[in-house]
Amino acid sequence: MRVLGIETTCDETAVAIVEERLGFDGGEILANEVMSQIARHAAYGGVVPEIAARAHIEVLDRLILRALRDARTDIAGVDVIAAAAGPGLIGGILVGLTTGKALAMAAGKPFVAVNHLEAHALTARLTDGIDFPYLALIVSGGHTQLVAVRGVGAYQRLGSTLDDAAGEAFDKVGKMLDLPYPGGPAIEKLAADGDPRRFDLPRPMLGRANADFSLSGLKTAVRQELLRLGEEPSETDKRDVAASFQAAVVDVIVDRVRAGLRLFAEQGASSPGAAGSPRGLVIGGGVGANGAIRRALTRFCAEAGLRFVAPVPELCSDNGAMIAWAGLERFKLGLADNLDFAARPRWPLDANPGVLHHGKA
Ligand code: KG4
Ligand code: ZN
Repeated sequence: MRVLGIETTCDETAVAIVEERLGFDGGEILANEVMSQIARHAAYGGVVPEIAARAHIEVLDRLILRALRDARTDIAGVDVIAAAAGPGLIGGILVGLTTGKALAMAAGKPFVAVNHLEAHALTARLTDGIDFPYLALIVSGGHTQLVAVRGVGAYQRLGSTLDDAAGEAFDKVGKMLDLPYPGGPAIEKLAADGDPRRFDLPRPMLGRANADFSLSGLKTAVRQELLRLGEEPSETDKRDVAASFQAAVVDVIVDRVRAGLRLFAEQGASSPGAAGSPRGLVIGGGVGANGAIRRALTRFCAEAGLRFVAPVPELCSDNGAMIAWAGLERFKLGLADNLDFAARPRWPLDANPGVLHHGKA
């Protein structure tokens, strides 16, 4: 089975074609076209929704043709069309969703509307074929959450950020350091030669029993350190700030994952439907590309005797392959959607959140 997936919820226009791999639980990526709009938004220091929507319209049909060419097929050779229907920026979602529906209708193919967060959470199954249940850490520009993934459509949010998303914190600190947008990759680069112990920054939520995150206090602490450094911090100052900030984020993430695993086990013990210890930790979202975070989680999981699945950075940040794969998994379970499926700018993963639900969707 071959699925074409379309992603337009933020500032990446992406189209991919993914095929089920027989004899292996994962999938094969036949085409994976991503066109980043970063250059168009950089001047504004963040994503401008109107610019994003227009840019998606301009390139999406070309990307679809390119993906079909890469996969050496045509639309007749595709079995299912999937598109991200949210959460994200409404203008962009409408472009991808409408295009996906139109393609499905014109070619007479089934259509699957995909939750972008679900796609991040399932990517480790595409790449590594990991079995349910597992714990997913989704860390991107708009989301930071820990999710118990017990099956396709069986997601329970164990914790999420009470304020800024991890990527948002990286981007805001990047701005304070006069780094180009997005701040994440630039901070990682700068931090590589910095002293992570020079500034004693807070580790919000450390040791709490819940698995929530809070990152805005850390960002404020960075701003105060920079104010103390005066008008013109030196390159060394900036490197040390970046390294100290990144080290604080790493500590928070590892601690929150530890708390998430504890909650995962408690949930399993208290409700029969949620039984089973996690088969691993998987990471998804653009911040998942960060080497320091990946190394720390690799170490943590090795010590905990837990499998750690970190898809390559290109599959952590927004891409079409994850949408195609989630579409494939849903379609196999008979979960195709009607063509009147509406865009969902807000679409929490656990549509029916239980007592553990806090924070933003
Ligand atoms: O998942 P993504 O591509 O888009 C969404 O937000 O959905 O994530 C983008 C975010 C940005 O905030 C960016 O700064 C961050 O991921 N990011 C990183 C790194 N690469 C991207 N943050 C830290 N370290 C990185 N290497
Ligand atoms: Zn994303």
